[in-house]
Amino acid sequence: MKFKLITIFISVFVIFISCDKLLPPAPEESEILDGPMENLSYEQRLQFLRGDDAFNEVFTKESGLGPIFVANSCASCHSGDGKGHPFTTLTRFGQDDTTGNKYLNQGGNQLQHRALPGYKPETLPEGASHSDFIAPAVTGLGFLAYLTDESIIEMSDPNDANGDGISGVVNWIEIPDYINPSTSAISQNGKYIGRFGKKASAYNLLHQTVGAYNQDMGIASFFNPIDVYSNLEIEPEVSNQTIYDLDFYLHTLKAPIQRNQNNPEVIKGKVIFGQINCGSCHKETLRTGYSPIEALSNKEFHPYTDLLLHDMGSELDDNYTEGSALTSEWRTPALWGLGLSADSQGGQYYLMHDGRARSIEEAILFHGGEAERSKNLYLELNKEDKNSLIKFLKSL
Ligand code: HEC
Ligand code: HEC
Repeated sequence: MKFKLITIFISVFVIFISCDKLLPPAPEESEILDGPMENLSYEQRLQFLRGDDAFNEVFTKESGLGPIFVANSCASCHSGDGKGHPFTTLTRFGQDDTTGNKYLNQGGNQLQHRALPGYKPETLPEGASHSDFIAPAVTGLGFLAYLTDESIIEMSDPNDANGDGISGVVNWIEIPDYINPSTSAISQNGKYIGRFGKKASAYNLLHQTVGAYNQDMGIASFFNPIDVYSNLEIEPEVSNQTIYDLDFYLHTLKAPIQRNQNNPEVIKGKVIFGQINCGSCHKETLRTGYSPIEALSNKEFHPYTDLLLHDMGSELDDNYTEGSALTSEWRTPALWGLGLSADSQGGQYYLMHDGRARSIEEAILFHGGEAERSKNLYLELNKEDKNSLIKFLKSL
């Protein structure tokens, strides 16, 4: 009996040890993009979890998917809250200048190329200009949401008054009726500052979320009850509470955490980043204004973006645009999380708006227009300095 107990004890112990060996250690917080920010209250964490469920909900015919759509869940494109794989790239079409979309009656501006059985998926109308968009990461967006309009305008330099060759303009957009602009919002001729999306054509995270339900998945809501296929008003297929939870989730996903910031090469790379003017658009440090979410109120953060549109030259000009952006203009993407972006893209980088760059260096080489000078300064660096810069970018 005693012997038996000892063998049981030993075998449990061995299993315990070997399980410990077999299971990979839990990843460090800084190695993963998803998860809530710190300092949320208990109630806020619960709402975050409900939003997380909504982000991962897979829609079916029964729950309202389509009838035409691009994908069936938010998470299928923004896997692990990170960047999307090219398989889930979406296509927008029909606007080639600032006068608006010419193909609204032919399914514009977004192509729904999948359909439930019995329905016809959309095809690109002949002659329509178009652009492919790869899904960006959705982390840290609450900080960008609470950046004040004043600070965005302060960073802009539409007439290049300081003569550095970099202008940076706001995408002034018309906002849908369901959005109440914040009391401190600045408007110009009835238009407001767009800050989300590749062309900065979404006013806030609610705008982006309602649009994604409608255009990406064919899910009608109280805010946008128009069916993508019939163009008729239908009953909401998602509740307002779910949309509010999802909006809260997007606001409170933690900001990516930099890794290896004390590594000498990373430190050197950061200096070079500043010296060759990358930081003129990819602004390191910004500060939020007041937010009712305490953890986001008056906080410094490091996104490496100015949220402004920049003319990136002819190579990145797809002849497609949104709002008041020119076809060659793109909103500076945040660089935080860059080093982890390949994790959700099958171990391979797919950078720039459509994923055309397969490495960080390739992404830099695609920079033109206002960023031409910065790219040329990169090309003049010696090999060692280039490596330090890339190492710094990978630490973000
Ligand atoms: C078909 C793939 C796809 C699906 C499904 C999808 N997204 Fe996206 N998402 C994208 C792409 C592509 C963009 C860039 C769009 C743009 O530039 O307007 C984007 C942009 C965003 C942004 C703005 C990020 C930024 O930095 O500006 C947010 C927030 C977002 N999506 C949330 C969601 C939510 C919430 C859902 C589900 C309700 C969702 N997405 C479903 C592909 C997708
Ligand atoms: C004039 C403003 C500007 C300057 C200067 C600039 N960038 Fe960019 N950067 C952008 C814009 C805008 C994009 C997005 C272009 C697109 O999506 O096609 C971008 C994209 C990137 C990307 C890809 C990000 C992603 O998620 O796909 C990286 C990496 C990057 N820049 C690094 C740099 C580095 C390094 C420098 C300095 C050599 C630099 N940038 C200088 C505006 C700028």
